Amino acid sequence: MKYGFFDDENKEYVITDPATPYPWINYLGNHDFFSLISNTSGGYSFYKDAKYRRLNRYRYNNTPTDDGGRYFYIKDGDTIWSPGWKPVKTSMDYYECRHGLGYTLIKGRKDNLEAEVLYFVPLHFTGEIQRVKLKNTGSEKKSFKLFSLIEWALWNAEDDMTNFQRNFNTGEVEIEDNVIYHKTEYRERRNHYAFHSVNHDHSGFDTDRESFMGLYNGFHEPKNVLNGRSSNSIAHGWSPIASHYFEIELKPGEEKTLIFILGYVELPEEKKWESKGIINKAPAREMLSMYDSDEKVDRAMMDLADYWNELLSKYQIESRDSKLNRMVNIWNQYQCMITFNMSRSASYFESGIGRGMGFRDSNQDLIGFVHQVPDRARQRIIDIASTQFLDGSCYHQYQPLTKKGNNAIGSGFNDDPLWLILGTTAYIKETGDFSILSESVPFDNDTSLSKSLFDHLTVSFDHVINNLGPHKLPLIGRADWNDCLNLNCFSKDPNESFQTTENKTEGSRAESLMIAGLFVVYGQEYVNLCKFLKKDDEANRAQSHVDEMRIAINKYGWDGEWFLRAYDFYGNKIGSNENEEGKIFIESNGWCSMALFDKEDKKVIKALDSVKKYLDCDYGIILNYPSFTKYYIELGEISTYPEGYKENGSVFCHNNPWIMIAESMIGRGDQAFDYYKKIAPAYIEDISDLHKTEPYVYAQMIAGKDAYKPGEAKNSWLTGTAAWNYYAVTQFILGIKPDYDGLIVDPCIPTSWEGYKVVRNFRGVVYEIEIKNPDKVSKGVKKIVFDGKNLESNKIPVVKRESKHKVIVTMGN
Ligand code: GLC
Ligand code: GLC
Repeated sequence: MKYGFFDDENKEYVITDPATPYPWINYLGNHDFFSLISNTSGGYSFYKDAKYRRLNRYRYNNTPTDDGGRYFYIKDGDTIWSPGWKPVKTSMDYYECRHGLGYTLIKGRKDNLEAEVLYFVPLHFTGEIQRVKLKNTGSEKKSFKLFSLIEWALWNAEDDMTNFQRNFNTGEVEIEDNVIYHKTEYRERRNHYAFHSVNHDHSGFDTDRESFMGLYNGFHEPKNVLNGRSSNSIAHGWSPIASHYFEIELKPGEEKTLIFILGYVELPEEKKWESKGIINKAPAREMLSMYDSDEKVDRAMMDLADYWNELLSKYQIESRDSKLNRMVNIWNQYQCMITFNMSRSASYFESGIGRGMGFRDSNQDLIGFVHQVPDRARQRIIDIASTQFLDGSCYHQYQPLTKKGNNAIGSGFNDDPLWLILGTTAYIKETGDFSILSESVPFDNDTSLSKSLFDHLTVSFDHVINNLGPHKLPLIGRADWNDCLNLNCFSKDPNESFQTTENKTEGSRAESLMIAGLFVVYGQEYVNLCKFLKKDDEANRAQSHVDEMRIAINKYGWDGEWFLRAYDFYGNKIGSNENEEGKIFIESNGWCSMALFDKEDKKVIKALDSVKKYLDCDYGIILNYPSFTKYYIELGEISTYPEGYKENGSVFCHNNPWIMIAESMIGRGDQAFDYYKKIAPAYIEDISDLHKTEPYVYAQMIAGKDAYKPGEAKNSWLTGTAAWNYYAVTQFILGIKPDYDGLIVDPCIPTSWEGYKVVRNFRGVVYEIEIKNPDKVSKGVKKIVFDGKNLESNKIPVVKRESKHKVIVTMGN
C-alpha cells in the first residue's frame, strides 16, 4: 500500500494521506542551521549541534508519536483544524505534503479555506521560514482565527528533558514588534537567543505554555485556541513558548500571506545588550528584513533549487528504469548530503543528544557526497583525522561543535583507522587534489603533535599490523564495524555499555575476519597510493603486510563453504558451520570476497553462493544466520537483540552493498542488481504499510527472515546505507569509477539491459557517457570511443580540452 507518489519532475515525494505508517520526515538546512520536519509539521530545529543548541522542544518516544513541532491552528467558527492534520487531527477536504530538496510544502483545505505552509531554511541563513498562504476558495466571506505555536527548548536538549528543578525557573522572553524572543540563560553565559517573528501585526500572543494550553490540555486542544483568543502572557520560568494570534477576514478568492521566521542569533560578548537586561535585537531585525516579502521568499526558494540542481548534476543517469533514475539522480544523493550534514546525530530515531560524528561513519559517508561538495569533504577529512591518536587508533566519535574527540566513548574499535584510508583516497580520486596529503594535521587535536595527513594514513595502516592476534589476523578490540560484536566485553551488568566495556582483555585471542578483509582492500589501496606517489620503499613494505594478510585469511579464515566471521576471546570460531547459531555472517563474506577477488579463486564464488543460500531473503540480505536465540556472554550485544532485529539477523542495509560490490567484481550483474532492488526504497514503495519508513530514503535496518515481522524497517535517514548503496550502484553496477588519473568505465549490469547514459561532471569537466550493451552481457568493455577516438584501456583520461566530452562505450566479451 502507498501513501503518496514520487513527483520526479519536481524532485518531490508527495504524501496524500497524513496518517503515514510512521512520521515521514525531511531535513531543511545546508550549513549551520537545520530542521527536521515530518509530514504533519512535527520536528525541531537546531544550530550546528542538535544537543547543545536546540531551539524547540520535540518529544521522542511519546504517545501520540511525533509530538512537538511548528504548529498552526485555524479556528473557523466552531471548527478547529491544522493544515498539517496534526496536532488537531480534524479531517480535511484536502491534504498534501510535498517533501522536496531542502523544503517541505504542506497544504490543507477545509470548508473553502485553504492553508498552504512552506517550510525551508534559506541558504546561509540561521533560521527557518514558515510561509503561510491562506485563501478563501468559496463564494462567501470568511472570518477566522489563526494561532501559531512553537515550544522553546532551553538550549541543551538533554538538560532540557531532565533538569527540571532548575529549568522551571530560568525561562525568559521578550516581545517587541510582532517578534517573540527567547532569551533563557542569556543573562549569564549564553550569547545566543532565538526568535519567532511574523511580518504582519498580530492581534495577540502568548509566551507562557500553561496560559496558552491549559495545564491539562494536549497540543490538539490548547485552551486559548478553543476559546478563540490569546492571553498576551509573558513567561517567567516554566515552559516558554511562542504563539502569535491573528483575526483574519478573507473575501471570496482573496489570499493572505504571513511570513513567520524561527531564527537564531549569536552575538559577541561586548554586543550582547541593547540596555540593561534588554537583548541586542539588531541582528534579528536584519534577518527579518531579509525575508519580509513574498518576492524575497520566492527568490530564496529559487536559490535553493539552483543549489540542489548544481549538487545533483555531478552524476545523472538516464535509463529505462524510472525507479533507478530517481534513486540515483535524486533521493540517494540527497540522503547522502543529509548524512554528511548530520552524521548520526538527529533523526526520528536518533535523539540528537547521544552521538556526535563517528570516525568510521563519517569516513564512510564521504564516498556518498565527495563528488557533490569536495571542499567540504576535504575539511571533514581533516577534522576527523585531527582526532586520531599517534598510534593510529582513534576516538570513535567527536562532537561537531568542538570538533574534539569524545572521551565518554573513547577508542578501541579496531576497524576505525582503516576507513580514513577509504575516505582520503576517495577524495583524491574525485578531485585529483594530492595536496591534502601534505596538510599538517594534529593528533588528538594537539597541534604540537601535528604530522602530515599521509602520516596519518601510515599509522592507520600500521595500527592493524601492530595489533595482530594468534592467527596473524587483526585483533578486534571493542568491536569492528559491527558495534555489537563485543568479544572482550563479557558483561553481566545491564548498566554497562556493550560498546565501552571490556571486562576481559588480557590474553584475548579475539580476531576479526572482517577487519582482515578490510585491511587487504584498503591496505592495498594504501599501497597503490604509495606507488602512485613513487614512495616505492613504503609501497613494498606495505605490500608484504597485505600479502601476509591474504595468506592468513586463506589459511585461518575459510570455513569450507564461506569465510569465518571471527575468533572469540578463547580462540573459538564464530560464523562457522560448527556453530549452532550464527553460522554465517555477511560482513566477513563481503570483505574477504573483495579482498581475495580473483576469477580463479573458487572461495569467493562459493562464499557469495553461500550468502545467497543462507542470508538472502525477500527483503534483502540478513546479517547472520541463524539468528542468536539467547544471550552469549562471549559475543556481547549481538546476541541481545531478538531474532531478526538489528545486528542479530536483520537486513542491516549498510552492509548489503558489500555483497553487491563483490558480486559485481565477479561479474554477476543480475545478482548484484537484484540485491540492489530489494532494499532500494523506490522499489519497495508499494509495501509502504509493511516497510513503515519513508519510501524515498534508506533505513538502517529491515527486520529479517527470523523476525516477528519481516520487512518492517527502522532507523531511516541517517545511516551509512545511503553512501554505500550510492557507491555500489554508481561505481560498481553502473560502473563509472573515479581514479587518480581518470574515470574508469567498468559496468556490471543485468543482462537484459540494452544500455544507459550517464552524465558525469568530473573535476569540472562534463563527460557524456553512453553505454551500449548489444550482446546483452553483464560485464566487459569491448570498445570505448572518446571524442571520436578509440581508447586503449577502459580509463577515460583527465583532459581539459573542452568543457564537454562524449564517450561511447560498447560492452561485450
Ligand atoms: C550503526 C553505527 C555504525 C556501525 C553499525 C553496525 O549504524 O553507526 O558505526 O558500524 O551500526 O553496528
Ligand atoms: C547499538 C546498535 C548499533 C549502534 C551502537 C552505537 O549497539 O545496535 O547499531 O551502532 O548501538 O550507538
